[in-house]
Amino acid sequence: MPSSALELRNVSKVFKKDRDEVRAVDSVNLTVEQGEMVTFLGPSGCGKTTTLRMIAGFELPTGGTITIQGRDMTNTPVNKREIGFVFQNYALFPHMTVFNNVAYGLKSRGEKDAAIKPKVLAALALVGLKNTENRYPSQLSGGEQQRVALARVIVMEPTLLLMDEPLSNLDAKLRIHMRTEIRRIQKKLGITCLYVTHDQAEALTMADRIVVMNKGKVEQVGSPFEIYSNPQSLFVADFIGQANIIKLTVEAVVGNDIRALLPGGRTFTARGLRPEGKGADIYKVGGKAALIARPESLTVLSADDPNGNAPATVVSEVFVGSHIEYEVELEDHSVLKAFTPFQAGMRVFGEDEKVSIWIDPSNVLFLPESST
Ligand SMILES: Nc1ncnc2c1ncn2[C@@H]1O[C@H](COP(=O)(O)OP(=O)(O)OP(=O)(O)O)[C@@H](O)[C@H]1O
Ligand SMILES: [Mg+2]
Repeated sequence: MPSSALELRNVSKVFKKDRDEVRAVDSVNLTVEQGEMVTFLGPSGCGKTTTLRMIAGFELPTGGTITIQGRDMTNTPVNKREIGFVFQNYALFPHMTVFNNVAYGLKSRGEKDAAIKPKVLAALALVGLKNTENRYPSQLSGGEQQRVALARVIVMEPTLLLMDEPLSNLDAKLRIHMRTEIRRIQKKLGITCLYVTHDQAEALTMADRIVVMNKGKVEQVGSPFEIYSNPQSLFVADFIGQANIIKLTVEAVVGNDIRALLPGGRTFTARGLRPEGKGADIYKVGGKAALIARPESLTVLSADDPNGNAPATVVSEVFVGSHIEYEVELEDHSVLKAFTPFQAGMRVFGEDEKVSIWIDPSNVLFLPESST
């Protein structure tokens, strides 16, 4: 079996500041396969950049091992790792033409001019920058400069491409365009790529798999679909997309299902997720469980609709074109978001109106209350 592109085993990094210790990365395990695009998502300070810097070799781990294509690289110097790195501040050399910026690494590696030229032109064509080779960085737009930075890295044919918020300096529209471009190039070249972002949409749309980090630890690794539909913790449920988290009292545990009482009196049954490594008896009758319901799994109905699960009052109603975004308050005063697709002629409820909500049991799940 060919070796994985990258393996992190119990990788940790502790920074010492005076007498304080910061556990920036805490026993991270991860296997990345050849050609995979893995995005790292998590709040500021959770250890994303530090993890990437250790993989690149700018920082040595205080514990654990880093294996790249089957070779232990934990203590290998940066220039021996064949890794490409694109930072948020992708400083191009301002006094060099686009051509020379892209050729720089190949020249430093001692390649001949005759070999360099076709490689540089091919890399520029790949990022959509044909015929710009004689310009200087100051004569390019932000997005074009970003693409030069990308060309400069991929021309080196790195075994692994690491990107740390490469698009954060670009405006929203260009970011969306560039994330599609990067994904296209990454797939075309079959390059293994780790990509750090704050931006959920970026993480969800670009990734084969997402690594969600929190306080130096990996909270969950999975495909965008798994992360969105099967969050293993309240942290992930809350961090990815929008989620209503409703704390309910457990009435019964029936196989994989949890039955609980909704505010207003009706019972509600849905699948109970048992996070890995936690016991099967994590839900207890009489104890609390957290119902995780995305806004699109909640439908607002008239108060007397027999399908309603719980009575509610409309707090706000916003029409956004494709759907109506409601905020509704339940009898226990919890406020939930409910997004209803817009259809011509449908009934729209106004502020303060008494309604009921229907929670789609096939599209929601319970998590243990303490799985933060
Ligand atoms: N050189 C350093 N010395 C001391 N502490 C550091 C150093 N680099 C990072 N840290 C600390 O390690 C933790 C993780 O930082 P890191 O830069 O990896 O976070 P991040 O997830 O990339 O955050 P952001 O999303 O804000 O870029 C933070 O608490 C940070 O303050
Ligand atoms: Mg960072």
